[in-house]
Amino acid sequence: MRVLVTGGCGFVGTHLAATLAAEGAEVVVLDRVEPTVAVPGVDYRLGDLRDQAVWAGLLEGVDAVSHQAARVGLGVDMGDVGDYVADNDVGTAQLLLALHRADFAGRLVMASSMVVYGEGAYRCAEHGGVRPGPRTVEDLGAGRFDPPCPVCGGPLDPGTVSEDAPVDPRNVYAATKLHQEHLGAAYGREAGVAVAALRYHNVYGPGMPRDTPYAGVASIFRSELDAGRSPAVFEDGGQRRDFVHVTDVARANVLALSAEPAPTGPFNIASGEARTVGDLATALADRISGGALVPAVTARWRLGDVRHIVASPARAREMLGFEAAVGFAEGMAELAGVPAGTGATGPTGRAARTPAPAAGR
Ligand code: UD1
Repeated sequence: MRVLVTGGCGFVGTHLAATLAAEGAEVVVLDRVEPTVAVPGVDYRLGDLRDQAVWAGLLEGVDAVSHQAARVGLGVDMGDVGDYVADNDVGTAQLLLALHRADFAGRLVMASSMVVYGEGAYRCAEHGGVRPGPRTVEDLGAGRFDPPCPVCGGPLDPGTVSEDAPVDPRNVYAATKLHQEHLGAAYGREAGVAVAALRYHNVYGPGMPRDTPYAGVASIFRSELDAGRSPAVFEDGGQRRDFVHVTDVARANVLALSAEPAPTGPFNIASGEARTVGDLATALADRISGGALVPAVTARWRLGDVRHIVASPARAREMLGFEAAVGFAEGMAELAGVPAGTGATGPTGRAARTPAPAAGR
């Protein structure tokens, strides 16, 4: 199998290229940066996928395309709206144009994100399944982090979302990822090509981007702890996420590229283990500092953040045969650079609470 990986020098793309090559696939990577660590046997092409000139001959003999190139994260502020749209929307459009021009007849797998759901699924004891509205500056500033029932204002229990849940992107990045999915689906219908969108949860593991505004929370916490500082936990630390290891995400991609029948539509790619951001901070602090540093719960918040975002991995299990192999404890031990089995494995209840500073980003 010959596979083209866009963004194959990025965090997930690097692991994916390595996994594919190890399984005997011929791998071509298109990226606008050089690889930090080149995977042996991979054919690297330097170029911007938005430039149609780079596509000349690139799709010849290609059986499958994995589209990992993207600008990720919540970004800095509205100042980067143009960059997100240029990289994610226009980038995907130019990829699809190249596939169309080449009469591509293979399959396409795209990296998406579960941020497309906005706030996840919630249940009110009185009103059943509900979808809370956008979080407000007033609520966040007053420390009301959990969204209230949109009918009675009462408390809600967060649940897991399936791929059939309504989409509701709540920040620029989420909007571009959803648009990318829609463009891919439109192309798939027109061209008769199977297009799958893998909605990644919070991906972590070796090679995570560090010290950039686009770094995920696990990487930020690790950098803080490595520098001898307590990780700054936003809100009250009760935000729920699913932290999925990058090697599992790479494997999910390989399955989507090879499963029969060729998968189409969205798939949640998750570990199936919901954890809070506070759990993450405590697990890393315990392992990296041996308990000397405790997470600082800051009550800071970012308006674009969703509160809880945990999805069901059932469809990926059924249709792709995907199940995450790396559990939270093992993954955290590796991220902290200590052997698995040492240090605490979960919340210890020792998080320090600091006075809430000025709210906002
Ligand atoms: C992350 C990814 C996004 C991906 C999505 C999939 C990044 C930057 N974002 O989004 O690309 O599509 O997962 O679900 O990799 N937090 C702190 N302290 C900090 C930074 C963040 O407490 O210093 C909290 C945030 O308030 C948030 C949580 O950690 O509640 C996660 O934030 P972040 O890592 O930025 O990821 P997501 O927005 O979940």
